[in-house]
Amino acid sequence: MTYALENKRVLIVGGSSDIAAALATDLLREGVRVTLAGRDFEKTAVAAKAVGDDVRPMALDLSDEESIQAAADEARAAGGLDHLVSVATERANGPVVSAERRAVLAAFDAKVFGPILLAKHFAPVIAEEGSLLFFSGLGAWRPAPGGVVMAATNGSVSALVSALAVELAPTRVNAISPGVIATSAWNTAVPDRDLLFQRVAATAPARRVGEPSDVSAAARALLINPFITGETLHVDGGARWA
Ligand SMILES: NC(=O)c1ccc[n+]([C@@H]2O[C@H](COP(=O)([O-])OP(=O)(O)OC[C@H]3O[C@@H](n4cnc5c(N)ncnc54)[C@H](OP(=O)(O)O)[C@@H]3O)[C@@H](O)[C@H]2O)c1
Repeated sequence: MTYALENKRVLIVGGSSDIAAALATDLLREGVRVTLAGRDFEKTAVAAKAVGDDVRPMALDLSDEESIQAAADEARAAGGLDHLVSVATERANGPVVSAERRAVLAAFDAKVFGPILLAKHFAPVIAEEGSLLFFSGLGAWRPAPGGVVMAATNGSVSALVSALAVELAPTRVNAISPGVIATSAWNTAVPDRDLLFQRVAATAPARRVGEPSDVSAAARALLINPFITGETLHVDGGARWA
C-alpha cells in the first residue's frame, strides 16, 4: 500500500517552533496544504509567512478547550484534515521540591491535556487514512535531576498515543521522541547551549546533536506509513543507549 502526501492537509500545532518550521517547509515542498497553529495568532502568522505565502496561520491554545473546538470546527468547514501534528511544549524544569502547580499544569496542557482534547475534537475531522502525531522527548527515557515534570509529560505522550491508536482505529496515532535537537529553544533553556551540544555529541552514538531536518524526516515517515500506529519513534541519535 502506498500513500503520498501531495495535496494532503496537515495542521501543525506549536507553529512558532523551529521543528514545526522545518516540517512545514518540507511538507510544502512535497505539495502539502499546510496550516500552522499557535496560541499567539500574530506570532503564528509571522512564522507561517516565513515558511511560505501559502501556509495558513490559525489560532489554537492547547490550554483552552474552546479554542481547540473552534479550530476543529474551522478545519471541518474547510473540508477536513488529513494529519494533525502537535510539537507544542511548555517547559517546567527544576527541582521537584520547588515545583509550582501552575507550571506543572501548563506543561501538561501542552503535552497531555491539550493532545487529549485535540483527539477529542479533531478525530471526527481527520480523513480515514489520516493520523495524529504528538511529541514526546528523551527526558522520559533518560531522566535527569530537574526533569521530573518533563519526564512525566513526555512519558505520558507515549502511553497516550498507544491508547489513542487502539481507540481511534483506523486513524493512526504516533509519537516522536527527539533527543537534543539544535533549535532556538536551547538559546534560553540552558546557560551554555554550545557546551551542552558538545557534551551530547561526545557521547551519543550519532556523534552529533540532531537538526530539525532529522525530526522532519522522521515525522514525514510516520505520516505516510499506513502500517505504523501506536508507536513512539526515537529520533535521538541513539542517546538513550549512551
Ligand atoms: N529541541 C529539543 O532538543 C527537544 C528535545 C526533546 C524533545 N523535544 C520536543 O520536540 C518538540 C519541539 O521542540 P522545540 O524545541 O522546537 O520547541 P519550542 O521551540 O520550545 O516550541 C514549543 C512550541 O509550543 C508552543 N506552545 C506551548 N504551549 C502552547 C499552548 N498552550 N498552546 C499552543 N502552543 C503552545 C509554543 O508557542 P509560543 O511560541 O506561543 O510559546 C511553541 O510554538 C517539543 O514537544 C519538545 O518537547 C525537543
